[in-house]
Amino acid sequence: MALFISSCKHQENEYHSITDKIEAKSKDYHGVSVSSEPYFGDIDLIKISEDGQSFLIPERKGNIKSYACTECHTKPLKQMQSKDLKKAHWNISIKHAGANTMNCITCHSSNNMDDLHSLTGSKIDFNKSYKLCSQCHTEQFKDWKGGAHGKQIGGWAPPRASLTCVNCHNPHNPAFSSKWPARFNTQKIKERK
Ligand code: HEC
Ligand code: HEC
Ligand code: HEC
Ligand code: HEC
Repeated sequence: MALFISSCKHQENEYHSITDKIEAKSKDYHGVSVSSEPYFGDIDLIKISEDGQSFLIPERKGNIKSYACTECHTKPLKQMQSKDLKKAHWNISIKHAGANTMNCITCHSSNNMDDLHSLTGSKIDFNKSYKLCSQCHTEQFKDWKGGAHGKQIGGWAPPRASLTCVNCHNPHNPAFSSKWPARFNTQKIKERK
């Protein structure tokens, strides 16, 4: 009986499970707190939950220059467009899938620009635009949820914060172009002379 009681005190076999132990130890690991939090800086984070995975991602709306869209989009798109007008968003063109698959309205909503929408028309908040991407890029989404695709902010220590798809990929032109070394070794050979 005494054994049972003492097993709950934090002395010899202090912890109920390995995760309890990790959590307790990481609060003060050799005098340093192991936490990703100091690395978050002033990034505004929101909490999301997807299929049992909960973590933080950066807020987006505050970073989108032309948000709120309804400052201009007060009418349905058709009523705003005119052949005589120059394109308002002349600097945005889509290099993503093909014209058969994708136009502006695949992701944006002509009647409510302040939200995105899924392929079946349900509303998607700009802060959760990964829900847009996940419809077609299921593999990357699965990897991202697990932490294998993308990047953690700060590190792997809890609390977990991950960059979201649009922190790295421009939704209008998501592929990265090939990068070449800034200079080739041949130049170094010249320098040595
Ligand atoms: C400063 C005003 C302004 C703001 C802010 C603005 N828009 Fe627009 N947008 C327009 C006008 C005007 C048109 C219609 C003329 C045109 O097609 O270029 C338009 C057209 C569009 C179109 C259709 C383009 C096409 O080629 O068919 C999309 C999609 C769009 N806007 C999305 C957005 C989204 C999303 C936001 C917010 C993140 C936004 N806009 C914010 C003025 C604005
Ligand atoms: C694959 C989905 C997708 C398509 C297609 C798409 N957009 Fe977007 N767009 C987004 C997402 C997601 C964002 C928000 C990105 C972010 O969080 O930075 C965005 C942002 C914008 C913004 C705000 C950009 C800013 O920095 O102010 C405008 C304007 C816009 N889109 C217009 C358009 C227009 C015009 C088209 C068609 C030529 C288009 N989009 C096609 C997904 C899409
Ligand atoms: C309606 C389906 C659809 C949606 C929604 C969508 N994509 Fe795509 N995406 C495609 C298709 C199709 C391609 C072209 C695939 C190819 O060429 O192999 C593509 C290509 C890409 C590529 C380039 C792949 C490569 O091989 O270089 C990236 C990165 C990407 N998408 C990211 C995103 C992100 C991020 C979002 C959300 C903002 C998104 N996609 C939303 C269908 C979609
Ligand atoms: C930390 C940055 C980062 C984040 C966050 C991120 N990606 Fe990527 N993604 C990359 C890089 C880097 C590549 C590799 C590009 C290359 O090889 O040219 C890539 C490649 C891709 C590709 C091309 C196919 C492949 O796997 O190589 C797709 C599609 C894609 N990402 C979709 C997404 C989606 C959807 C999300 C969000 C759920 C996302 N990415 C989040 C950086 C990121």
